[in-house]
Amino acid sequence: MSVRVYVPGDAGALSVGAEEVARAIAQEGARRGGAPEIIRNGSRGAYWLEPMVEVDMASGRLAYGPVTAADVPGLFSANFLKGGKHALLLGPAESLPWFAGQQRLTFERVGIVDPTSVADYVKFGGYQGLTQALSMGGAQVVQAITASGLRGRGGAAFPTGIKWKTVLEQPAGRKYITCNADEGDSGTFSDRMLMEGDPFTLIEGMTIAGIAVGATQGYIYLRAEYPHAHRALKAAIAAAYQARYLGSDVAGSGRRFDLEVRLGAGAYICGEETSMLESLEGRRGEVRVRPPLPAIKGLFGQPTIVNNVVTLATVPWIMAHGADAYANFGTGKSRGTLPIQLAGNIKRGGLVERAFGLTLRELLYDYGGGSASGRPIRTVQIGGPLGAYVPASQFDTPVDYEALSAIGALLGHGGIVAFDDTVDMARMARYAMEFCAIESCGKCTPCRIGSTRGMEVIDRILAGTDGERNVQLLEELCDTMVQGSLCGLGGMAPFPVQSALKHFREDFRARSQT
Ligand SMILES: Cc1cc2nc3c(=O)[nH]c(=O)nc-3n(C[C@H](O)[C@H](O)[C@H](O)COP(=O)(O)O)c2cc1C
Ligand code: SF4
Repeated sequence: MSVRVYVPGDAGALSVGAEEVARAIAQEGARRGGAPEIIRNGSRGAYWLEPMVEVDMASGRLAYGPVTAADVPGLFSANFLKGGKHALLLGPAESLPWFAGQQRLTFERVGIVDPTSVADYVKFGGYQGLTQALSMGGAQVVQAITASGLRGRGGAAFPTGIKWKTVLEQPAGRKYITCNADEGDSGTFSDRMLMEGDPFTLIEGMTIAGIAVGATQGYIYLRAEYPHAHRALKAAIAAAYQARYLGSDVAGSGRRFDLEVRLGAGAYICGEETSMLESLEGRRGEVRVRPPLPAIKGLFGQPTIVNNVVTLATVPWIMAHGADAYANFGTGKSRGTLPIQLAGNIKRGGLVERAFGLTLRELLYDYGGGSASGRPIRTVQIGGPLGAYVPASQFDTPVDYEALSAIGALLGHGGIVAFDDTVDMARMARYAMEFCAIESCGKCTPCRIGSTRGMEVIDRILAGTDGERNVQLLEELCDTMVQGSLCGLGGMAPFPVQSALKHFREDFRARSQT
């Protein structure tokens, strides 16, 4: 039997040469008369080690990385298919320091399974959650999700069980499960990693949601900029139909659940749930006024669950292991684990899944290794382009929804972008307004006009024109946008600006004196 070698097909790994590495291993193996079986797994999330190649040994998987195509002949000469020593040998994949202390629940199979194989998914514990859900009534499943303490991982952190209960309680009829896979936040990639590395977990989570609330149709709204995730989802959905985990008789239960992928329209606002529904219905992505809530009147006017990829992909673990097991992780009202994404000016960027409660400092220094530039980290932006900047003096804040909210920050989708001490915070504030001006759907004035005025005011500050007065004007404008915008885009775009003014006022003052 040929040796199994894992070379990630994850978009992040591909961007640093994984495709060339896979090809080189196949060619060199064939040339030497012993081509290994190559599995294109997902990334384990240690991105600075990608492309990380793993060889399946009797004792477990041995990792080598980061590997380039040029390294491949040398790896064969070092007999890497038998675990031979080589400068790129990292050791057993599971014992890499990056994984020490991680608590991988939602991501337990990412980087491990073959994302195209239902059999592999089942071998690693997949579909146990669905089996459990099918043995329970819908209300019991919803109760389990409520008891687990799971909150939406897309940004708003709304309790998932309450949302599901609302849909369950709507009169029987057409209901929908929609998955928000628009993942527009800067520095975030957990949805993408999961869809590429373990798509069946998302499919299983959506199927359980359908069984729970009585919905027979699901849609994944996927951002068009994710072609690899699109391919992975399409292949996995076809395989799930083939294995009868989707369709008219889900796992022999007589229950129906159908699932399709719809490509997004390439606008940040299409990630906002009501815009996403508009876009799914084939219209321009524009925010709907609430109420009614999507749970009552959502897609095509029917009761609809809108959940993020990570939220839905966490459901199978909860159903398989029990609500208490999940709720035992975490702190306060932030239960369970969060896949946190480290990006920006950071030495070791990637994905860390840990229970809520570890500090920003642990993440940035123990996992991230400090800045890539070697300079002190001055600030991090958490929760995407609308998230606040947190200064180094607050790096001992625990990562949980309430603790971050107490310092005026938000966790959002769990992306943390690091900046060193060369960052100009007045320019970052301008960027926030510019982002809002470009991405605004235009429906309400504070956001549409306010963001452009915001840019102009910051430009005057940057130019040193009437600094103090313009800083004051900027603060008033931010207040107006927060109070008067219809949705989170205009309502939160001022957060990075306000936090920059609060913690880094010197960056604005320096100009006001010129
Ligand atoms: C401007 C804006 C953009 C958003 N983008 C996303 C997104 O890309 N993905 C996502 O899951 N949620 C996004 N959200 C949050 C959604 O509106 C919604 O709260 C979420 O999809 C609900 O799922 P959850 O409860 O599982 O988090 C966005 C919200 C706003 C205001
Ligand atoms: S706040 Fe901005 S994005 Fe949201 S509805 Fe108003 S104009 Fe549209």
